[in-house]
Amino acid sequence: ALRQSITPKARNQKQRSSNHVQPQASYKVAVLGASGGIGQPLALLIKMSPLVSSLHLYDIANVKGVAADLSHCNTPAQVFDFTGASELANSLKGVDVVVIPAGVPRKPGMTRDDLFNINANIVKSLVEAVADNCPDAFIHIISNPVNSTVPIAAEVLKQKGVYDPKKLFGVTTLDVVRANTFVAQKKNLKLIDLDVPVIGGHAGITILPLLSKTRPSTTFTDEEVQELTVRIQNAGTEVVEAKAGAGSATLSMAYAAARFVESSLRALDGDADVYECSYVQSDLTELPFFASRVKLGRNGIEALISSDLRGLTEYEQKALEALKPELKASIEKGITYAQKQT
Ligand code: NAD
Ligand code: LMR
Repeated sequence: ALRQSITPKARNQKQRSSNHVQPQASYKVAVLGASGGIGQPLALLIKMSPLVSSLHLYDIANVKGVAADLSHCNTPAQVFDFTGASELANSLKGVDVVVIPAGVPRKPGMTRDDLFNINANIVKSLVEAVADNCPDAFIHIISNPVNSTVPIAAEVLKQKGVYDPKKLFGVTTLDVVRANTFVAQKKNLKLIDLDVPVIGGHAGITILPLLSKTRPSTTFTDEEVQELTVRIQNAGTEVVEAKAGAGSATLSMAYAAARFVESSLRALDGDADVYECSYVQSDLTELPFFASRVKLGRNGIEALISSDLRGLTEYEQKALEALKPELKASIEKGITYAQKQT
């Protein structure tokens, strides 16, 4: 789909030759934190989507230049810029999908939880504005620590009386993207068909790739499972260390976030076959938030896919039990923070 969008001429010719011309889908997407390391390449990828008619870019600084630059790409989406708190409400009016990569990234030696003190407040204030201006939108939270920022967002939406758990998503697509890449490399498989579900959360051992559920079905030695699991869990840190103080994953994250946006837009557009992993309100385990595969539809999450959690290997079952206390603590930290603020 992305390739199609940069050749509008070819697409128009294709449409003209068809008897049943489909009207162009026209969704509005807002990116909050649009001039950051993730925000800029993410905005570029969203600008390439044929499903987007308006792209709203919001940040506290530097967004005018990013928007002017992007607006010259000859793809259908119109780009609008919004700078600073006084323009936040307008950036959200009429928006179908809001993506939030606003906040500080890690430096070497930090955990994602070390970002809590700064990012919790950023996410809280942005989600308050979402609640006030586009309460029906799909909300994609990228800002770390995702394990806590999603529960914060849920509490804020509850306080505002507009919480729809089917439309609040912690973006964990990057974990799946990494799992697919690393497994394909290790097993010499074609990436195009490969799908590894990743469950749990988005930090360290809470990231649990279910290698036994890899499709197409693939077998791994115990050593391969151990090596791949640890690499997927530490992949964020691998990038943080390689960037040596200049931030964390931005390009692969933008790629992953754009995939999740595109999947959400396809679901909104009526595609009945859209599945992604995401960290969402969940009853698949005793934890109130949990990442799993979800089926997306017009109204958000249509189903949590419970089958992946059945028939786990002993390794996966142990890892699942081991991640629960950490994930539970991160969820509670987020909820407590949001409740204290009222
Ligand atoms: P960055 O510092 O390059 O960009 C962040 C942007 O947010 C900046 O442009 C900044 O001006 C903006 N910002 C700060 N406060 C804001 C506010 N109140 N309103 C709007 N914008 C605001 O950081 P980055 O590399 O883009 O990373 C952003 C966040 O994404 C970090 O918290 C990082 O940990 C997280 N992240 C998550 C994943 C994931 O898989 N979920 C992956 C990579 C990074
Ligand atoms: C990632 O997984 O790359 C992000 O969560 C950023 C980080 O801090 O590792």
